[in-house]
Parts: sequence; structure tokens; C-alpha cells
Amino acid sequence: MLTKDSNHKITVLTCYDFPTARALDNSDIDIVFVGDSLGTNVLGYRSELEVTMSDMIHHLKAVRKGVTQKLLMVDMPYSSYNDIHIALVNAKQLKQKGADIIKLEGGKEISHIVSEIVKNNIPVMAHIGFQPQLAKQEKRTVVGALAVEAKKLYKDALALQSAGACGIVFECIPEDIAKEISLKLTIPTIGIGSGKFTDGQVLVLTDVLGWYNMPYRFIKRYDSFYERTISAANQFMRDVSTGEYPQRNHGFRIKAEELKEFKKEI
Ligand code: KIV
Repeated sequence: MLTKDSNHKITVLTCYDFPTARALDNSDIDIVFVGDSLGTNVLGYRSELEVTMSDMIHHLKAVRKGVTQKLLMVDMPYSSYNDIHIALVNAKQLKQKGADIIKLEGGKEISHIVSEIVKNNIPVMAHIGFQPQLAKQEKRTVVGALAVEAKKLYKDALALQSAGACGIVFECIPEDIAKEISLKLTIPTIGIGSGKFTDGQVLVLTDVLGWYNMPYRFIKRYDSFYERTISAANQFMRDVSTGEYPQRNHGFRIKAEELKEFKKEI
């Protein structure tokens, strides 16, 4: 499914709706990802902790309709994998609604859950380093800057690999640590804020498109959709007020005799 290949960096972008899914499906990226960042980026929630299974399924269904070529990865939301039984029920539901890979956060302590889901033929991407679902605040902070923390990350990564994870997201791990652990693993690592030596990179699409101005150093803003949307809305307002829009060709006509007949009645 996913291979570690020094000649190919895996690219992943988040996606939450049908029109964007269509566009990403026709782009050159590898994986379209319905992340639980859905909550803060699209649903106006204060944190990932508010995202539910029904939120995820609602958006997964829309994205699935637009993705026919790429792999589709989906986050298991907060509290949806608290124990093996709950995790399996929810993972099967996400697979049934169209997920090719499911992603969940946590290290060695969730490796038995990863293993059970994988045994049921559902590919699992793990996620270590900064874990938004554990965070008390939205602000991203580095994990693994102390040797003791870095050793734990390494052990977590090995346990998740042994459990059968098809890859691991590394979030906000120092570049040198992400590099060393990536070199020791046989499965690919996908970094966010973890430097250039992981086997791939993931970013949140709303950050890439410039819907927000998040203060994180790892974001690269490739466009300015927020400003461009305001500008298009203002142009529409000006065109309507000046009569520039709509023009004759934007509307529908009726024959003169039909109009005459109609006018007779009113
Ligand atoms: O939900 C998400 O967008 C994520 C990324 C931060 C990797 O999990």
C-alpha cells in the first residue's frame, strides 16, 4: 500500500469537502486526508476534542465521492478508539464509508489497538510526537527535544511498526530525531513540522491555501484564499450595485407575445 522509497516523497494534504476532493484527486499528491483538523478549520470548533464520529463520516462521505484515484486516509476522532472493541467498531464504520487508511494518535500504549484493526484488514497510519487529541491547547509544541523523550518516540515507533501500522505521522519532532528514527524503520514516516528527512510530508490544506494565518513555522502558505474570497465578494457587490452584473446573457428571455399576454393579466 505505502512503500518507503528514497526516490519518492509521499505527499499528503487534508481535505474536508467534495469540490476540494475533486481537485486534489486530479493533482499529483499521493494521499487525500480527512483529518480531524476538520473541527478547527471547517466546523469552527475550538479544538479537535469536539470532533465526533458523525462529523468525520459526514465529511468522509463527501470527500469519497470526489476521490477515485488517490488513497483516502481518515482520522479516528477523539474518544473513538478508547478500547479495542470501540476502536474496531468505529474503524470498520470508517472503512465501510470509504476510508482506505485510518489514522489514530498514540504510541506503544495503543499498539494492541493498531494490531487488532490491522488484523481486520484495515490499514492503519499511526501518529506520534505532538498529538492534537491529547493537547490541552491548540498551540503546537515540539516533542522529542530531550533525549529521554526522543528515546520514547523511538520505542513508540518500533511498537507501532511491529503492530502492523502502514506508516507513522511525526508531528513537531526535531529534524535530527525524525531523521534517525525514520532511518531505523521499514515503514514510511510522514512529517509535519519534523524537518525534511521523513519519507513524506503532510500539511493542512486550509493553511496551504491561506485561509488562516496560523503562526506555526512549519506552514508554507501557497495562496491567499481568505483575501481572494473577500476580494471576489466585494467585486460581486460592486458589480451588482453598478449594474455591471447581471448582463442580458446571464438571464432567460420569453417571446414578446408571451410577455404581452402575461402583461394583459396584471
Ligand atoms: O488532522 C490533521 O490535520 C492531522 C495533521 C496535523 C497531520 O492530523
